[in-house]
Amino acid sequence: MVLGVSGGIAAYKACELLRRLTESGHDVRVVPTASALHFVGEATWSALSGHPVSTEVWTDVHEVAHVRIGQAADLVVVAPATADTLAKAAHGLAGDLLTNTLLTARCPVVFAPAMHTEMWEHPATRENVATLRRRGAVVIEPAVGRLTGVDTGKGRLPDPGEIFEVCRRVLAAGRAAGARRDLAGRHVVVSAGGTREPLDPVRFLGNRSSGKQGYALARAAVARGARVTLVSANSALPDPAGADVVRVGTAMQLREAMLKAAPDADVVVMAAAVADFRPATYATGKIKKRDGQEPEPIALVRNPDILAELSAERARPGQLVVGFAAETDDVVPNGRAKLARKGCDLLVVNEVGEHKTFGAEENEAVVLGADGSETPVPYGPKEALAETVWDLVARALPPATDA
Ligand code: CTP
Repeated sequence: MVLGVSGGIAAYKACELLRRLTESGHDVRVVPTASALHFVGEATWSALSGHPVSTEVWTDVHEVAHVRIGQAADLVVVAPATADTLAKAAHGLAGDLLTNTLLTARCPVVFAPAMHTEMWEHPATRENVATLRRRGAVVIEPAVGRLTGVDTGKGRLPDPGEIFEVCRRVLAAGRAAGARRDLAGRHVVVSAGGTREPLDPVRFLGNRSSGKQGYALARAAVARGARVTLVSANSALPDPAGADVVRVGTAMQLREAMLKAAPDADVVVMAAAVADFRPATYATGKIKKRDGQEPEPIALVRNPDILAELSAERARPGQLVVGFAAETDDVVPNGRAKLARKGCDLLVVNEVGEHKTFGAEENEAVVLGADGSETPVPYGPKEALAETVWDLVARALPPATDA
């Protein structure tokens, strides 16, 4: 494991984190920045970790440390991560040993930022954090409390015990996913988000889907080794690291993107909330209200059922098609009827309501199989439902060919 330490007063708290990591059996290499050594000296890091410590790439050059340390790590945790280190990491700068390590590491990376509130809230830092998260790094939210000097606010390094817990969870999740690379060599296509059907240049008919479930499916499939195409309709979520993201707006655009990607897919998942109807006409100019006149009713026409179409015309033999259904009542009987109507292999039936599922972090579902199977998924995070879907898919897929 690598503990990166950058130059903030909270560096002293990283000693406690280091102690916890080594006491729980990890071999930890500390890589401080030169500024970090102003706060806690080399002797402390070296004595606590049992390894030599250097800040730049010119020490032990024959060992090519600037590459080896990152390559060999199972986890890199940077605590504290200053605004400067986050910026360098986001932009791929590599002026010292820590930034070189961050560029060469292919393991999970955790940043525990600590800085003054103004720095944390600055748009530059916000964008750097968003970039790092989009690439898959875990950036822990700083704690609120007393900062250096008399200031208080958001920006404190979280408690070392909490950072340790995050590291433990990230390592465990990495191992679990690594042990289940059961989608390696497969191509999966997932739709996510909600379509918008334009009425005029400024208005649309839409729905409340956030895209969280589809994005969780995409992330989980990447972790299980699949090549992932994510067709995303109007989601504000950051691109999942490692997925190929195709952005669409309307149901017709989503259909086109799905039909284009499906011929090459082992699995197609329709997690997007697709509008069943679109306005029959599109006004090229903004629709105006007119005093004393009733508004024109909006005429709608049916959109094609993409899931039914994908199910009916399997692009390749053995391709699995998974649908989602949102039901408010008689969840299972309605789900069964919908599964038969749409012709898919699996249908994930969610119970929805005003405060349930759309935009929420958690949901409850039952996965119905065309073979009559019924897999209940208890109330929990969308990530857990995603894993269950891939478990069922991995079991049902025909053996992979080498192509
Ligand atoms: N779906 C689709 N194309 C549509 C409508 C829905 O591919 N035009 C897909 C969704 O992506 C989802 C599934 O069909 O996987 C179920 O959508 P849902 O809205 O729950 O069901 P509907 O068939 O629209 O039935 P109803 O609105 O009557 O409940």
